[in-house]
Amino acid sequence: MLHAVFPGSFDPLHHGHLDVVRRAAGLFDRLTVAAVDNPLKRGQRFTLDERLAILTEATADLDNVVADRFDGLLVDYVRSLGARVLVKSLRGEGDVDVELQMAQLNRQLEPSVETVFLPTSPRWSFVSSTRVKEIAGLGGDVSMWVPEATLKRLQR
Ligand code: PNS
Repeated sequence: MLHAVFPGSFDPLHHGHLDVVRRAAGLFDRLTVAAVDNPLKRGQRFTLDERLAILTEATADLDNVVADRFDGLLVDYVRSLGARVLVKSLRGEGDVDVELQMAQLNRQLEPSVETVFLPTSPRWSFVSSTRVKEIAGLGGDVSMWVPEATLKRLQR
């Protein structure tokens, strides 16, 4: 059984993330989508509990997908689940350096875990949580980029 983990801040979840979730769910027997607090990222809008609630709601129709949260080192969490694959998405050149660095470091920390990269679908390649937060905060309509589970919480 091939179990993969798709980690991220998901602050908040948008359609680019969900597209990767659906495609990865089709590739692996089981997929855990896991939210974490990233101390390197400022301007967090949603608590980890809220992000988990959004993930749970937005992936409810996918039988082999579980939403979760974790603290600490990603590879420790992946190991604790008995998972073997890390799923990451690449929007473009800007993501490559940073994702490649993390993949190399994670593999040195835990050689049994492989990182698999999925290119973001072109339709969503310009969407980011940061811009969604900015635009929504300024009163812009973000409904084309986020699922209902995110939208209703952004509107609160
Ligand atoms: O959605 P993001 O913020 O780009 O995701 C980054 C994330 C969560 C994958 C990364 O920050 C991470 O792996 N955090 C867990 C802590 C850790 O293991 N750091 C070492 C990475 S080499």
